[in-house]
Amino acid sequence: MGGGYVGLVSAACFSELGHSVNLIEIDAQKVKAINLGRPPIYEKGLEEMLRAHAGRNLTATSDYKCIPDSEIILICVGTPQGPDGEADLSMIASCAKSIGIALQNCDGYHIVAVKSTVPPGTTERLVKPTVLRQSSKNINKEAKGPQNIGFVMNPEFLREGLAVQDFMDPDRIVVGSSDQNAGDLFMGVYVGLDAPVVRTSLTAAEMIKYTSNAFLATKISFSNEIGNICKRLGIDVYDVMKGVGLDHRINPYFLNAGAGFGGSCFPKDVSALIHLAQETGEEPILLKSVVDVNERQPLRIIQLLEKKAGDLAGKNVAILGLAFKNDTDDARESRAIPVIAELKKRGAQVKAYDPKANSSMEKIFPNIDYCSSADAALKDADACIVMTEWPQFGQLDKEFDLMRSRVIIEARRILSCKDAEGICW
Ligand code: UGA
Repeated sequence: MGGGYVGLVSAACFSELGHSVNLIEIDAQKVKAINLGRPPIYEKGLEEMLRAHAGRNLTATSDYKCIPDSEIILICVGTPQGPDGEADLSMIASCAKSIGIALQNCDGYHIVAVKSTVPPGTTERLVKPTVLRQSSKNINKEAKGPQNIGFVMNPEFLREGLAVQDFMDPDRIVVGSSDQNAGDLFMGVYVGLDAPVVRTSLTAAEMIKYTSNAFLATKISFSNEIGNICKRLGIDVYDVMKGVGLDHRINPYFLNAGAGFGGSCFPKDVSALIHLAQETGEEPILLKSVVDVNERQPLRIIQLLEKKAGDLAGKNVAILGLAFKNDTDDARESRAIPVIAELKKRGAQVKAYDPKANSSMEKIFPNIDYCSSADAALKDADACIVMTEWPQFGQLDKEFDLMRSRVIIEARRILSCKDAEGICW
């Protein structure tokens, strides 16, 4: 249930593993596109998979009729950030209700599995009672007989852009279950994948997901803080992290300093964990600093720009990269958003180019100048900021001569030309 990037990638990959998959999505246009083998989002390798399986063992539908015949029902809907940083569980609740209604008067054993990122306790305290109440099954805890609905929490660890690869070749598979039998049966969906399996309670599985994302976000903010210190000392933080990351206890991943983390997951999940901790009476000092460092990083870019280019009012600033990272058209929580907002506030003219995310950013900033190439954005610019680590930006050099002056700021370490200045290097 849910044809967003997690639901769609999971559906495609489960069909690749040989299962018969129904993807329930309420957006009729998405359903149509998926059934034609056309992914509504860009994700490496997804189109090939959809073309191979759509209309065969993968069908998208807006109808809940397939639920009673499904052995496993996976909830993959979004849990967006609520007004106080908490996770908004309304779509989870509505899915659980629909599943319960669809399972009324229905025989046989079903597993309801949550793949969405949800706060610990959600599967046990929201999904399970809602499904059971709506389906009228096992309401009476004292009732004898086999439990005919099992509950599983199976978090995803899919990076956007690399989601298909992460699904098919995972570091680990985490399965929390209401009982041993539900977990054992659920593991059947992953037959064919070779990865360590962690079996836990429902709540521990939910917490594993939050903790993983919070730890990765912490690594990034930590690197940014070290990078900010290095910048003052005239040290290249990338040299430092190379030396640090070779320690196997640390590892070299997610130590890239720069503009900070964006996307639909880290900012939302760290906020939700902070909210959750505070609800329990625990003050999450470290997690709050992780967010704080991340929010200040884009302002440092503006400060560096002002130092190099002076007053920004009336200046032409080229932004290269709008997506929250390379290989995606997603601009949600992109670090380019606060940077563009600050530039506009200071009266600068913004010309922007992204290989894939121009139209995503246009929804957020309809009134800036979107260009179809890096050259077009750079032409006559007084300054340029590289905001996304697209590998093709690494080739740019003489293109910067199109600018009025070569003031180049790198907020992600990607350029190879000599005169760019990095935000923390
Ligand atoms: C993240 C996690 O990496 C996935 O494991 C998880 O499943 C997913 O969230 C989710 O919860 O669904 P994603 O948001 O797609 O995946 O992107 P990442 O590749 O993790 O990057 C997040 C942000 O951190 C990007 O803005 C990226 O530029 C930034 N980043 C990443 C850095 O600033 N430095 C780094 O060293 C690495």
